[in-house]
Amino acid sequence: MPAPIVVASNRGPIAFARGAGGGITAKRGAGGLVTALSGALAASGGLWIASAMTEADREVAARGRVGAEGADASAYELRYLGFEPESFDRYYNGWTNRVLWFLHHYLWNLPQTPVFDAETGEAWDAFVAVNRTFAEAMAEEGDRLGPGVAFLIQDYHLSLAPAMLKELRPGARIAHFSHIPFAGPSYMRILPERFRTALLDGLLGADVVGFHAPEWADRFLLSCRLLPGARVDLRRRIVRWRGREVRVRVNPMGLDVEALREEASRPDVVRATDELREWKGDTTLLLRVDRAELSKNVLRGFLAFDRFLEARADWRGRVRFLALLNPSREDIPEYAAYVGECIRTAELVNERWGTDSWQPVDARVRDEYAQTLAAYGLYDALVVNPTLDGMNLVAKEGPMLNTRDGPLILSETAGAFQELQRWALAVNPFDVDQTASAIASALDMPADERAARRRGLRAAVRRNPPSRWLDSQLSDLGLAGRHTPAG
Ligand code: ADP
Ligand code: G6P
Repeated sequence: MPAPIVVASNRGPIAFARGAGGGITAKRGAGGLVTALSGALAASGGLWIASAMTEADREVAARGRVGAEGADASAYELRYLGFEPESFDRYYNGWTNRVLWFLHHYLWNLPQTPVFDAETGEAWDAFVAVNRTFAEAMAEEGDRLGPGVAFLIQDYHLSLAPAMLKELRPGARIAHFSHIPFAGPSYMRILPERFRTALLDGLLGADVVGFHAPEWADRFLLSCRLLPGARVDLRRRIVRWRGREVRVRVNPMGLDVEALREEASRPDVVRATDELREWKGDTTLLLRVDRAELSKNVLRGFLAFDRFLEARADWRGRVRFLALLNPSREDIPEYAAYVGECIRTAELVNERWGTDSWQPVDARVRDEYAQTLAAYGLYDALVVNPTLDGMNLVAKEGPMLNTRDGPLILSETAGAFQELQRWALAVNPFDVDQTASAIASALDMPADERAARRRGLRAAVRRNPPSRWLDSQLSDLGLAGRHTPAG
């Protein structure tokens, strides 16, 4: 019998909203975690517990468990947890995304940030409270589902929940998985000791702690050495803590290619493809797709394009750089400032090189998933240059939908690099000259090399189906998966 699965994550697969007619409408949630987990859970079934993030989510939350209405997630149940908006804001914006996200992606500007004070203290308290609510909800759902439940806790928002759940249900089998990088010990030391210890202790409440890439797993292990009394075996990737043995695993998440293809065949994507084709005319299309997010390195991407145009007069007037930036975490001032700077930089490139009939950069900050899928089909080269990224699914999705053998320019610091590096054009994300050269190499690349790289990229993505991620975690917990029996 496959193990019953309870997944917990901050963001759920569906964002609910009040439609114009007063009814509740459902839309897909943003980001890589949702993409990845929707694929894995659609195959296995189970229960997904998530935070209510909008007013309409909170209305749905009040109904208890629901099937996923009007969305593609009918294979599993959904339970949204409602929080009081002010404390949710402290937890989500104040702690998880202004402290933990910045910590693990090295985003602080250390002469000025972070500052730990009473406000961060309140944000921490809210973070503890939300984690406790999740742990209690998991314990309750686990009791309902009976023995042999696998608790799969996702991402940095829920770093404390594993230890809380372990305390509530000592026999529970718990895996925690981070979809982002993990800061090493030097950076972890920026956090006051009480926070650092609580975070590491929280994660070590799981039986298995997972990451997309070996580097993040190793940095976590090295950080655990900061815990007095922890014994860390780097080679076997094991931490002995509070009399238990916690295994640290590398388990890169695969892409649900069939689900992606199905979405890409929807009528709104077909319409968006026609529109983009018209917009692009006979120019060559350079594309980037990101959440409007500091770690995605949009700014240096535009600077690199500027240098490319400077060096390559022959491409002026013939190539357009389309940046599809999905709005994200808009209440956080650093995000608003960064997006503003990206737009200004795009305008500067346009002023410098543009003509009456040619606008080199088009940066669109909008939530338009259909347009994204359409653009994947049409690009001639894809730029994925994050400064640091847990995985980056855009790097996998683009090549699966692209019809033009467009090369992939990829940061060495993205988790996806370990699977795709052989077939991508590698860049150091901080080196704008190298990124400019990579753009040139991509656009100049002969057709046979483009085709060979495209084949390589697709085969690499296909080698890692999303079921593998789930089954590995279940077998690490000693439970039977849907696709592979427990070892
Ligand atoms: P991150 O998780 O940091 O946002 P990823 O590249 O791993 O980065 O994942 C981004 C995911 O968001 C991809 O699966 C992409 O297709 C998806 N996406 C892009 N635009 C939208 C949108 N407007 N709405 C929902 N999902 C989107
Ligand atoms: C990344 C994180 C996810 C998060 C997503 C979107 O993928 O790993 O946990 O859900 O970004 O961010 P948001 O703050 O909108 O949920």
